[in-house]
Amino acid sequence: MRLYPRLSMRGVSEFEVYPANGVGAGVDGAHGMRSSGSWWAYRLPTEVLFGEGRASALGAQVTALGRCPVLVTDAVVGAQSFLRGIRSEVPSAPVFDAVEANPTVGTVDALADLLRVQGCDVVVAVGGGSVMDCAKAGCALARGPAGQSIRRYHSGGEALGPDRVPLIAVPTTSGTGSEVTPFAVLDDPEKGLKAPLSSPSLYPTVAVVDPALTYSMPLRVTASTGLDALSHAMEGYWSRQHQPFCDMLAMEAGRLVFEWFEAVCLDPFDSEGRRWMAYAATLAGAAFQIPKNAMVHACSFPLSSRFHLPHGTACAFVLDAAIRFNAPALGDRLEAFAAYCGFASVEVMAAEVRRFKRLGGLPCTLEEAGIPESALESLVAESFHPLMRNNPVEVQPEDLLRLYAGLRAEATPDPGPAAGT
Ligand SMILES: [Fe+2]
Repeated sequence: MRLYPRLSMRGVSEFEVYPANGVGAGVDGAHGMRSSGSWWAYRLPTEVLFGEGRASALGAQVTALGRCPVLVTDAVVGAQSFLRGIRSEVPSAPVFDAVEANPTVGTVDALADLLRVQGCDVVVAVGGGSVMDCAKAGCALARGPAGQSIRRYHSGGEALGPDRVPLIAVPTTSGTGSEVTPFAVLDDPEKGLKAPLSSPSLYPTVAVVDPALTYSMPLRVTASTGLDALSHAMEGYWSRQHQPFCDMLAMEAGRLVFEWFEAVCLDPFDSEGRRWMAYAATLAGAAFQIPKNAMVHACSFPLSSRFHLPHGTACAFVLDAAIRFNAPALGDRLEAFAAYCGFASVEVMAAEVRRFKRLGGLPCTLEEAGIPESALESLVAESFHPLMRNNPVEVQPEDLLRLYAGLRAEATPDPGPAAGT
């Protein structure tokens, strides 16, 4: 059995039970939670504090959790003026700002060493998904056996232990939702592998979501991260492990992204838009952290590691094609998502994703993404991360080859200035 949302006068507020077809059942490995038919579970152990200015008052959260904090960030965030206010909240904290755009296992190991050597008992991570993911893994590794590398636990390794250094996650983008998820995407250059690490010990202790920290994002980062959030909403919704609680979070997250994406692209200081996008990104993180992602994220990993597309840009690159690919199998369930977001059809919703990519200056074709025809077969082969098995439609290599063929320039005419709703 699985649950379908049904539109009512007030939007999607009821669920109907439809006969089982194999979609919707599964076990979440990070939680041991089973979502199957009318049986489902939800857990979010992270305390979420939301609102403009909250990051400038996080000293109380720090002192409640420990006496020896470390501030983790990266060079880009380190140059932002808002960081001065945050540093004044933790004046004694050393700063670890070596996190790369794609955090590596080596950097996680270095952070864990710092935490052990300095006896740090609380971490404040200020940045995008890369910074938060590195800090999450470092906090968990620091309380494990001394001298261990995160490699021991990454990509099919051992399970992380339950103990970790408390972490306060402060996102500066509206996209990854990492502040409320038990995942950390890490790069292992020696193995040529970028993949997520999953463990309940990766949940941040506290998430401080301050929309004012996102005003300085340039257009492409705003667009890339915003479409990452939309990908989380849609993938959590169409995941084989989807369940009604997460469905509702996903639909509202999707509705908010579609409503506010254009506003924040046109005006980065649109405080109302930034507030709703920050909320949508956290909501989308809460929506997919149990059901997990599917084909869009599976495809994104080689697109990022081989062709250096930022994570959200890589997700956005295939998102509209994935909507069309999954639509026939999802039927009225995806139509309900589109309707809740204000679209006349799934096709109109997919066209709007494409328009958003153009608006944000993101690549829409193979040529624009720098992907040669000769790379397609190996790109497809590298896309079969385990998340691919979480897709509602079983994906074959020839399906992905067709999907990428549809992203040739001549196959993808622009939809015009506005797709409309
Ligand atoms: Fe993502």
